[in-house]
Amino acid sequence: MSPERLPSRDVPRHDPAQLGALRADLTAAGFTVTAVEDLLGPVASAALHREQPLPALRATAPLVLSGSSALRGATAPTSADVPGGEDADARTAALVRVFVLGRGVPRVALAAALPTLGVDGAARLGLVQAAGAGRDDEVRARVDLRPYEAEDAAGPVRWWLVSDLGEVATGRALRTDHVLGVGGASTTLAQVTVRDRRRRVLDLGTGCGIQALHAARHAEAVVGTDVSARALAFARVNAALAGVGPERVELRAGSMLAPVEGEQFDLVVSNSPFVITPRTPGVPAYEYRDGGRAGDAVVRELVTGVGAVLAPGGVAQLLGNWEVRRGEEWHERVGSWLDEAGLDGWVIQRELLDPAEYAETWIRDGGVTPDRDRAAWDVQYGAWLDDFATRDVVAVGFGILTLRRPATGRPTLRRLEEHTGTVHQPLGGHLAASLAAHDWLTVRDDSALAAAHLVVAPDVTEERYLRPGSVDPEVVLLRQGGGLGRAVQAGTALAGLVGACDGDLAVGQVVGALAALLEVPADDVAADVLPSVRGLVRDGLLIPAGTTG
Ligand SMILES: C[S@@+](CC[C@H](N)C(=O)[O-])C[C@H]1O[C@@H](n2cnc3c(N)ncnc32)[C@H](O)[C@@H]1O
Repeated sequence: MSPERLPSRDVPRHDPAQLGALRADLTAAGFTVTAVEDLLGPVASAALHREQPLPALRATAPLVLSGSSALRGATAPTSADVPGGEDADARTAALVRVFVLGRGVPRVALAAALPTLGVDGAARLGLVQAAGAGRDDEVRARVDLRPYEAEDAAGPVRWWLVSDLGEVATGRALRTDHVLGVGGASTTLAQVTVRDRRRRVLDLGTGCGIQALHAARHAEAVVGTDVSARALAFARVNAALAGVGPERVELRAGSMLAPVEGEQFDLVVSNSPFVITPRTPGVPAYEYRDGGRAGDAVVRELVTGVGAVLAPGGVAQLLGNWEVRRGEEWHERVGSWLDEAGLDGWVIQRELLDPAEYAETWIRDGGVTPDRDRAAWDVQYGAWLDDFATRDVVAVGFGILTLRRPATGRPTLRRLEEHTGTVHQPLGGHLAASLAAHDWLTVRDDSALAAAHLVVAPDVTEERYLRPGSVDPEVVLLRQGGGLGRAVQAGTALAGLVGACDGDLAVGQVVGALAALLEVPADDVAADVLPSVRGLVRDGLLIPAGTTG
């Protein structure tokens, strides 16, 4: 959208100069995640995370009122009127009340928080609507605007993001064309994405543009696509607000891979519209989470189709749901997609819900609860259960899929594992290192591995479990502090080998020394430990010497 065009009724307007003024005001106001949390305090912040706004409303009301009365005497509030301390709190409180909590504030209060853009400028951008030009006239948000701070594998970021007002602010169920802000899945994908330099990146289903903005930090060019014109309008505004121009993030309308057909990317990311939704009257099809296919077909289509737009060596990282059908393991179904894709594939299942839990989660997500609307709740709940029953679905998995088009030759990686415990985010660096370790291992047979020098990763510790009074441990565990936090049980020989891996001796030399110590043939020790050594290298507990820095 060009700056000259009038905004449509309910999307913000893309005007880079005015958005620059907004950025300056938000920076000067110190509208950061930390400032908001400090202002609200731990109780109101935690309640707001649970979508309960009342404590935050109570925490902000007096600040906005006192800030407004302090400013009432001034002719026109400027940033000099509100230099810091209580006044800074009043500005943050006004921004939180308007843009996060969706409540009205006196015009004078928001004017103090936005001295450069002004309330009229914010209205022209489609961010607020004002009841009048008087100082006490109420101003209300038309969009959600909040600070976003994160740590991805390329380091910390700090932006502000505009999206549709959520349920907390409107008190209503979401519209089907709702444009989502940053949610848990957005953050997960941003953190697991590999962040080494990439030439071209595709963000499929860009929504408010969050993944595209992250990608712009380590790519020459980013293409963000979405089926929703409203989402693209928000993404365009968010990019401008972050100071990222269309030469770095290009936005295109269209479904799935159609807008990029025939092109190649070095990285594809997609927090895809993966939610399994019954195609039944009475069940809303939310654009932001539903790709318009039956069952888990969206995820299957992406997994099996994304290879067509991956450059050799290119990586695709997707979040998705998959159905677990009676008589079939989750990894059989998802594994068959990997086979069809013809790509390297590594799938980590992070969660498994039964059909009822899944239905409840996504009905609530749309703003329908049994308390609010029992009839709608029952209709939707029944539709979900019926839909699952038609395909004999007994559970639904959620996870992270990392796919890669081999640089040459056939796929060599096919790994499907369950990891429901805590992982150490950002995981992107770990996943990238593990892919590199896989490649390192692929070109080494056991004699080449025996000739290699390995070091123990700095985050690995050893745990020994002994029976009371015993000298020798019953169990030795090697525990990874970072990454997926794996724990690997080690026998005597493996524990001894890992303990000696400081890069000085080759693996084969350590094996020889252990064989002499244990008085067994070296070949037997090698046959015992080398498969485990491969696993430890692949998972980052052992690192080839000289590749750590
Ligand atoms: C879960 S949101 C992800 C938004 C954002 N990328 C993030 O990480 O927060 C999924 C996005 O996919 C879009 N979408 C839905 N169906 C689509 C389709 N068939 N093709 C492309 N995008 C689609 C939705 O409009 C929505 O913006």
